[in-house]
Amino acid sequence: MSSRIIETANITEQSVYITRVAELLKERKMNTPKACVTTYGCQQNVSDSQHYKGLLIKMGYELTDNPEGADFILFNTCAVREHAEDRVWGNVGAMKKYKAKNPSIILAVCGCMVQQEKNAKRFMSSYPYVDIVFGTQVWHRLPEFIYRRLRGDRRICELTIDNAEIPEGVPVFNDGGFKGFVPIMSGCDNFCSYCIVPYVRGRERSRSSSAIINEARDLINSGVKEIMLLGQNVNSYGKGLNEDINFASLLRQVNDIPGDFRIKFMTSNPKDCTEELLDTMACCDKVERHLHLPFQSGSDTVLKRMNRKYTAESYLKIISYARQKMPDITFTSDVIVGFPDESEDDFEKTLELVSRVGFSALFTFIYSKRNGTPAAAMPDGVTRQQKGVRFDRLLKLQEKMSKKVLDSMVGKTVKVLCEEYSGGYAFGKDEHQLNVKFSSPEDLTGKFANVKIISADDVLIGEKV
Ligand code: SAH
Ligand code: SF4
Ligand code: F3S
Repeated sequence: MSSRIIETANITEQSVYITRVAELLKERKMNTPKACVTTYGCQQNVSDSQHYKGLLIKMGYELTDNPEGADFILFNTCAVREHAEDRVWGNVGAMKKYKAKNPSIILAVCGCMVQQEKNAKRFMSSYPYVDIVFGTQVWHRLPEFIYRRLRGDRRICELTIDNAEIPEGVPVFNDGGFKGFVPIMSGCDNFCSYCIVPYVRGRERSRSSSAIINEARDLINSGVKEIMLLGQNVNSYGKGLNEDINFASLLRQVNDIPGDFRIKFMTSNPKDCTEELLDTMACCDKVERHLHLPFQSGSDTVLKRMNRKYTAESYLKIISYARQKMPDITFTSDVIVGFPDESEDDFEKTLELVSRVGFSALFTFIYSKRNGTPAAAMPDGVTRQQKGVRFDRLLKLQEKMSKKVLDSMVGKTVKVLCEEYSGGYAFGKDEHQLNVKFSSPEDLTGKFANVKIISADDVLIGEKV
């Protein structure tokens, strides 16, 4: 477990509530109150949940994965696609039975989905057993919300979005073992036409480099082997800060922290993926030889309607520059299939781009209409069935491309961070973000191993050297 504590006004105020909650729980003879946090969505949300867990531990709660028997239950939600939201309505609904058995349970729902007012209202009106609903920019106030509810105040709905500085000093519980998340920024100003994130997360704000470096150093000193720098668009890190810094220089600073660890980052928007950033990756030995660069569509017409601000050609230029600087680099990407009025020809261009780049893996999504975004108002003549057929064609092509990337690794030696050990085999990921399996007499979980690749199946198979 690691935590960062830098006293600031709003955190000092929360410290008072932390103490009060702890006292109330003791008064009520709840010696080991239990808290269950369920997380949906992206790594940012996982990182936010690590902060909730840090706060809950400070208040005296013990963490559990099982909502049954928990005294505090939190759902941290995602709004990016309809499917993500559907699961939450059902799963929060299933909590009613626990609350009926034990009315003293506090049930809270937070995150991107509730930041949309219509969802918050629905929780407040149709889910009377939900005690607290809070949005994405008041997360550090969790102790205050719990205190007010424990004291018997009315149900709470707090959705303020003031785009203030990201609070520092909130405790973090790193439940990722040897992997650690370090958020470097929050929010998004890009307004891709299909995407809900800028509306629910608010404006882009960066953390100071000293806060980031201190946190990364703490994690590394506590034994973490993989640092993931997080932001919706890490390439625009630094805008609006009082220091002269960009993402490339931040990456160099993290790379300079002493220790044997690996650096990853998520997500890069191609529109500001600069040569400086790729040059920096190439000379930073701890940064993985892999870039996740979502392209969304291979058609310039669709990219324009998506408001992505790059073309297929400029995307391919970035790929080729990166390969020139780092010949062994691998790429992964996100793609949306069936954007409103995507034509057959547009879709063929997506397939063409996939063939030309040769991604090691793709995260493919069928377009999901998000009310309030510009794309939601675009006419869409593509049927569900057509979208499904395209989706399957893309998956088939990607299967072939993934296999090609894996085959090209045979004979090479890679550095694997071992994540699992079973049946005499170690499993992990190499610096290209590829899955590797090798036989090992000892459990190497959380350790690096140099492995020579001898064959490629669904994963790379190698021998420890
Ligand atoms: N900030 C990141 C993406 C965050 S959302 C970036 O710009 O790369 C993760 C992925 O979800 C996106 O890359 C996109 O492929 C997908 N996505 C976002 N909104 C979507 C929608 N309305 N329908 C389908 N997929 C969507
Ligand atoms: Fe959404 Fe675009 Fe921002 Fe990514 S960059 S979070 S896709 S608006
Ligand atoms: Fe979902 Fe919010 Fe992340 S909408 S993808 S949890 S930023």
